[in-house]
Parts: sequence; C-alpha cells; structure tokens
Amino acid sequence: MKKVFLIGLCVLSSCAQMNKETAMNNKSENQDVYSEMYRPQFHFSPPSHWMNDPNGLLYENGVYHLFYQHYPEDIVWGPMHWGHAISKDLVHWENRPIALYPDEHGYIFSGSAIFDKNNSSGLGTDENPPLIAIFTYHHSEKAKLGTDDHQTQGIAYSLDHGENWTMYKDNPVIKNEDKIRDFRDPKVFWHEESSSWIMSLVAGDHLQLYRSENLIDWEYASSFGHNQGAHGGVWECPDLFPLEVEGETHWVLLISINPGAPNGGSGTQYFIGEFDGYTFSSEQKNCLWIDLGPDNYAGVTYNDVPNEDRIFIGWMSNWNYANITPTQKWRSSMTIPRVLSLRKTPNGNRLVNTPISKLDSISKIQPLALDQKEARQIHLQNDEDFELMQSRILFETELDFEMKWKNAAGNTLLISADGQEILVDRSNSGYVDFEDTFATNPIKASLADLQNEKVHKIEVFVDHSSVELFIDGGLVSLTVQVFPEEPFSDFSLNADKEVLDFKAYAVERIWD
Ligand code: FRU
Repeated sequence: MKKVFLIGLCVLSSCAQMNKETAMNNKSENQDVYSEMYRPQFHFSPPSHWMNDPNGLLYENGVYHLFYQHYPEDIVWGPMHWGHAISKDLVHWENRPIALYPDEHGYIFSGSAIFDKNNSSGLGTDENPPLIAIFTYHHSEKAKLGTDDHQTQGIAYSLDHGENWTMYKDNPVIKNEDKIRDFRDPKVFWHEESSSWIMSLVAGDHLQLYRSENLIDWEYASSFGHNQGAHGGVWECPDLFPLEVEGETHWVLLISINPGAPNGGSGTQYFIGEFDGYTFSSEQKNCLWIDLGPDNYAGVTYNDVPNEDRIFIGWMSNWNYANITPTQKWRSSMTIPRVLSLRKTPNGNRLVNTPISKLDSISKIQPLALDQKEARQIHLQNDEDFELMQSRILFETELDFEMKWKNAAGNTLLISADGQEILVDRSNSGYVDFEDTFATNPIKASLADLQNEKVHKIEVFVDHSSVELFIDGGLVSLTVQVFPEEPFSDFSLNADKEVLDFKAYAVERIWD
C-alpha cells in the first residue's frame, strides 16, 4: 500500500514536474515568439502563421473562448482551420490546440459557438451538455468547378468545455440547394421569446435568417437587405443582437462587407432595427459603420457574457493588403475587446464601441505627463518606463487638434481633426509600399455625430503595429495598422483650444 502510494506520489510529482516544464517551455516560447518586430503586446495575435476573422466567441464555465480563422502552415490565407485561445479576463490569453480541421466537406470558414445547456441537439447528455460550433464548410475543389454549391453549414460539438471537438456525423446541416455562391458565416443565438435557436447567415448581397429547435434541422425564416445598406462588396460575418437605449430595446445587425468600406476595402456596417423571432427590419436610410478606420473587419460579439454585456472583437486588418503586411512569423491581430452600446444622438441612435474597462488593469499611469496635463502643446518621449509603441493616451479638448508620432528614421503618423473631419495620415509612417492603397487612400471620418458637445474625450491605444482611436467613449472610432521602420519615440499634441486632463499610460505586456 505504502509502495503504491509512493509510486503514485512519484507519478504525481513527475506529472507535476512535467506540467511545470511544459508551462515553462510555453512561457519561454511566448517570451521568444511574442517579441518580434511589430508583434502586439496587449492584443491577441496567433503564436505563429496566418489568422483572420474571430470565430465562435463564447463565454462558458468562467472562460472566454476565442476561435479564429487560421492557416497553420503559412503566413498567408490558405485551407482554413479554427485556431483557439482562452481567457479569463479578455486581456490575458492562453493559446490552445487547433480546434477544427478541414475534412471531406471542405475548409472550416467563419462561424459561431453556443452552449447547448438543455442538450437540445442530443449531442451531449443532460448531465454534460455540449458546446456546439456552427461554421461554414468551403469545398475548394467544387469552388474551382464553379458549381456555386461549394459553401454549406456544418456543426461540431465538444463535451469538455471546448478542448476537443467532434464533427457531427451527418454534416452539412444546411446544404446549399439554391447554389448561392457566397453563403456563409453562421452566427447562432438562443431567442428566448420565440423559444428557438436563430441563425444569421449571409447570402451574397443579403442576410438570411433560419430557425431551429435542435441546432441540426434548420428552417428558413426570412431575408433582409437586398436594397438596404452598403453593397460595394459581398456581405460577410453577420451578427444580430438586442441592445437597450433609454428604456427601449432595439436590435442591431452587424454586416461586414468587402470591398466597399468608407476608407477602402473591408469594413463593418450596422443596422438598427427590430426583430420578432422571424424577421429583422430596419427603417435606417443611411449607411453606418462600427469603425471608420481601414483595419477593423469581420468583428462579431460574444454569446452568453454575464450581465448581458455585448462584447465585440474585430480582426485588425483589411483584405486589400492582409496577406502582404510586413510581418514574418505571424500575420495580423485582433482589436482590443470593446463593449457595444446604443447612444441617442441628435442624428439618431448610434452604435458605440468602448474599450473594455479591464484594460485598466494593465495600464500604468505615467507621471511624465502630469506636469503638462493642461497645456495646449504636449510633448512626450520614450523613457525607461514608457514606450510610445505600447501606450494609451487620454485627453479632452475641442475637435481641433493634431497628434504626431515620429521616430529617428523620419517616419511620422499624423492624426488631426478640424472640427468637421478626422484625418489619419499614414503615408509616411514607415513601410507603406507593400500595397498601392495602404498609403495613398486618405483615411477620413466625418465628425457629424459629435457636434452637440464642445469638448470631447480622445483616447488612443498604440500597440507596436496598430493604433485604435476612440472619441467620446467610442461614438466614433478608427482602427489603423502602421509599420514604422523603427519604433516611434516622440509624440506631440497640438490643440487649438485648451487640453484638459491629459494622461499617458504604459500598457503592460500580456504574454508571460
Ligand atoms: C471574412 C471571410 C468570411 C469567411 C472567412 C474565410 O473575412 O471572408 O466571409 O468565412 O473570411 O477565411
């Protein structure tokens, strides 16, 4: 008995040793891997190789899952898998093994995940209900033949909180009998009022809604958008969810389109409307965009977040140049998570995206900014505690100002506002000529939705190769990639009127 116990102890302790070693290996891998030039330090990016859209955003059992479009053999788009990472706070991430691999039905394109808590699918048990991933299969051989039925919808399930996944045996669950060329990106949620699972799916130039009781048999319910919104490109990555504003509930539909965004290439528009379990409708006449910069695409929101917070993550790139940005071991990262809300403005209701407050836990205030916190001109430089490339800057002023980042190589990034418009000029920001439009497309956004106040709150996050700007808590936001030849080391702010409450924070690295 004693011997068995001892052996058991040894096995346990060598197991613990092994776990420790694996953990340490992962640790040192992260140290090496997450340190390349341009590597974001407080945004999620894959350990290596290609990434595009966020997929299967789900909170379950205390964990935020982030699956993502991933090609694990190259740094360009290829046969899609679902990569996987988890987080307890949406700030620090742990990489997990690849969740979904292509099979005989095709590559695994974008989609969503839900917790089937009543085991309505029968794919788990009442005691151990499954997580279900719902995604698009893209059959590349069929696509080459041009038969137009190469995109279908499939499901997979996990009985261990998302670690291991099994493909459903009778996939696909939605075939493509109408032969719709672009038929993809299912986002599923439970609609309590009509006791049904609802799937939003895009079909080229419009949205289709489906209903199901078991996540396997789906019935078409309605369509939306043939004649509404922007149609400069294919509709992709829908998401439909309710939000409250001043006691009223409205439904918001996100639709990514590529190309056709206001600043060229890819962008995500939204519609505010109503949904009755079967039909989405919207009176909205103008096109509205969640982010007015060029580098926030295919974003969707989490299912099942406590307190019904609606948390959004987007892919920080643009199909115009996503495959050729100047990184070597990995490509692209996600936006910081943002909480979505509706706000009433004189121009109507608007969707606001605000950085999650948990980011405060990794933001360290820099005293160097405090002595100039109310000047019209503010100047910051790197020092041993503060790197502009990994920073967060906050201030308040009127909408006439210019922010400039520069480095010793002569690269500059300019963000300026003239009361009417905000302009981001990255034409001289470093490596810009890997693609024609990266530097030449002027990045502009109207400030028309901000006109009722004089003084506005400006917040900028810079993370090595990205800049995320939020005005008035995200009523206007712009996300932009930059690739300076060397890190920016000097920042100046010139404002026409008084600057109030200027603060600079160093942001901690999230990988250990
Ligand atoms: C959006 C998208 C989706 C598709 C996926 C393929 O960026 O084109 O529509 O499912 O990427 O990787």
